[in-house]
Amino acid sequence: MPELKMAEAAAKPADTQVLSVNDLQAWYGESHILHGINFNVGAGEVVTLLGRNGAGKTTTLKSVMGIIGKRTGSIRFDGKEITRASSDKIARMGIAFCPEERGIFSSLDVRENLLLPPIVRTGGLSLDQIFDLFPNLKERLNSQGTKLSGGEQQMLAIARILRTGARFLMLDEPTEGLAPVIIQQIGHTIARLKKEGFTILLVEQNFRFASTVADRYYIVEHGKVIDGFANSELSANMDKLHTYLGV
Ligand SMILES: Nc1ncnc2c1ncn2[C@@H]1O[C@H](COP(=O)(O)OP(=O)(O)OP(=O)(O)O)[C@@H](O)[C@H]1O
Ligand SMILES: [Mg+2]
Repeated sequence: MPELKMAEAAAKPADTQVLSVNDLQAWYGESHILHGINFNVGAGEVVTLLGRNGAGKTTTLKSVMGIIGKRTGSIRFDGKEITRASSDKIARMGIAFCPEERGIFSSLDVRENLLLPPIVRTGGLSLDQIFDLFPNLKERLNSQGTKLSGGEQQMLAIARILRTGARFLMLDEPTEGLAPVIIQQIGHTIARLKKEGFTILLVEQNFRFASTVADRYYIVEHGKVIDGFANSELSANMDKLHTYLGV
């Protein structure tokens, strides 16, 4: 199939691979969810996983983070095999996960939420650097988690992993349920983080948003990666994408 070959070529990542996932399979208890996930993320790239509800995108991120009980295949980060490493060790290697549900503690204020995740490596952002990126958070420093808007919660969820020293960020549907103007702000934030040298693995349903920040895409369907292409090839892949995503 010449068409697929082209897509594979376009899906080739940058020279320095930070994350390399090969034939990843994962299970929740007896449920076999991932059936062979293959993708790469190059240093400094923004790579986006797209796919319908239930395709296995979140499970893929959780597998990389080491928080899925049973996983097989190979996940290499910075050249080291981490498939069987503990989530603790994976975090200390510099991988951070920002979950879809954001995980903001409603009984804690913004400052307490920010300070919660442990610093795992040197080189994390200082609070001043974080406030420079998210001026709103500075104004809301003493507000309780429950008082924050969805957008503020999402900003806080991203901000607090920047303190930890992680340089590889996995963001699960950061734009979900947010107003267009906030989505735009999140886009600016991701672009800025990329410029600062962070590597980002994004999960999105909103590919219009993803197209403003992503270098490359992979399509996840029924627990497999079935296609991949570069952002420069997005328009050529639009018809396929509509079919894959059912939009
Ligand atoms: N804790 C769990 N226990 C058992 N099955 C689960 C669990 N979490 C997810 N699943 C199942 O695994 C499959 C993949 O789910 P996953 O959350 O990875 O999909 P997703 O691509 O992130 O979907 P969405 O776009 O809805 O977030 C789904 O069929 C889901 O029902
Ligand atoms: Mg999900």
